[in-house]
Amino acid sequence: MATETARRAATARARQMAMYERARRTLPGGTDSNFRAWGDDTIYVDRGKGGLVWDLDGTEFVDLRMGYGPVILGHADERVDDHVNERMRRGVSFSLTSEDEVQACELICELTFCDMARLTVSGTEATMHALRVARGFTGRDKIVKFEGQYHGVHDYALISVLPNDVAALGDRDNPVRLAWGRGIPAAVADTVIPVPYNDLATLRRVFEREGDDIAAVLIEPVLGNAQGILPRAGFLQGVREMTREFGALLIFDEVKTGFRFARGGAAEAFGVTPDLATYAKAMGNGYPAAAFGGRRDVMEMLPDKVSHGGTYAGNRVAASAAAKVLTILRDTDALATVRANGERLQAALKQILDTHGLAYVFTGQPTMFGVMFTEMLPDDYRGWAATDHDLYDAIAVGMIARGVMPEPDSREPWFMCEAHAQGDLLDRVATTFEASLHAALKARAHTRSDGVRDTAG
Ligand SMILES: Cc1ncc(COP(=O)(O)O)c(C=O)c1O
Repeated sequence: MATETARRAATARARQMAMYERARRTLPGGTDSNFRAWGDDTIYVDRGKGGLVWDLDGTEFVDLRMGYGPVILGHADERVDDHVNERMRRGVSFSLTSEDEVQACELICELTFCDMARLTVSGTEATMHALRVARGFTGRDKIVKFEGQYHGVHDYALISVLPNDVAALGDRDNPVRLAWGRGIPAAVADTVIPVPYNDLATLRRVFEREGDDIAAVLIEPVLGNAQGILPRAGFLQGVREMTREFGALLIFDEVKTGFRFARGGAAEAFGVTPDLATYAKAMGNGYPAAAFGGRRDVMEMLPDKVSHGGTYAGNRVAASAAAKVLTILRDTDALATVRANGERLQAALKQILDTHGLAYVFTGQPTMFGVMFTEMLPDDYRGWAATDHDLYDAIAVGMIARGVMPEPDSREPWFMCEAHAQGDLLDRVATTFEASLHAALKARAHTRSDGVRDTAG
């Protein structure tokens, strides 16, 4: 029976397994990103439409990953694609400035607190440049970041990011600078000071110790890589006040939350205004559009005093996509629909979870949320480790086997898009969640009763 199930699963993934064998000859891990390298389970995609995605074997999934967040309207959105297609026929890359770029930056400034902005191609570049501008403006070198926060893959961002074993982060009162992987110079790591999220006391100790050297606090307003753990009341306001007190800049990394939590991002949603911010994902609906921006006096370090450039910065494809997506988010109720989708799904999950008497909390905000199996919402990344994330992971894997695709990792939130409102997609997510929860609990009971290890789904 087990062999027959394995045979059917292998047949259902025949094309992808062949692609995995082919791809890993030329791409390390068979992919272009460590985050997509899932070994034999690596997924090779064929296409997406709205809230759906199909793998190379033609299996259909309701997509909850949405490309790690950018696809806020839905895959292959015709409003955006038609506009980009029309604009790109005029040529895409001139290393000259087009009206599309000006329009995109005007929209960023209209929707957010920013006075000025510049386009980049990725969130990584956006945070890298924002940090440099902050160092240039203040004349200081050090950066404070929060444990468990992911800001991209440049060297400064890869300190105390997402260890599976939170003990590696060191003593809570005096965290270590934990580099993620080899190749990060110690001299770079030494300029980054990690602090637990939601912990104003530790942050104050850090500022009192080395405040004269701190250029900026870089913070994602929620812990986007721990299912969107929320700031405690007063935390972001406290960070804002402390940065002012010690003459450092506050940078909000809104790569995930920007144009999603509200039109003006998390800054608007939480009512706290930083000095600089970075944007990416939702502003392009999947096209590689990103930006950093902020206060005029800070941004005016460019172009004369701080280096910034990029052959593809503001390229026509990304800039026209951003201009169109931001116009849609400004002029339609798309974002209200995204939020309503999340609220509807949370209500359905609540009904299912309440009948099981399991301790759980929703994390994040309905446009980007997660479920953690725990009595109380954790404060920080270390708290994620104490949740029953094995149960979550078993459910997520079961959902993928049943045709709904969250990330199979309890740290990544579910991303809602406008197109999830179509058809019965949200009902499919809820029924699949329920079936996967039952299977995971049954497997766990089985494991506990006779010590036999079983897998969910
Ligand atoms: C908060 C945050 N900042 C920065 C990044 C890096 O963006 P990119 O992957 O476009 O380089 C990410 C990516 O997931 C992110 O979530």
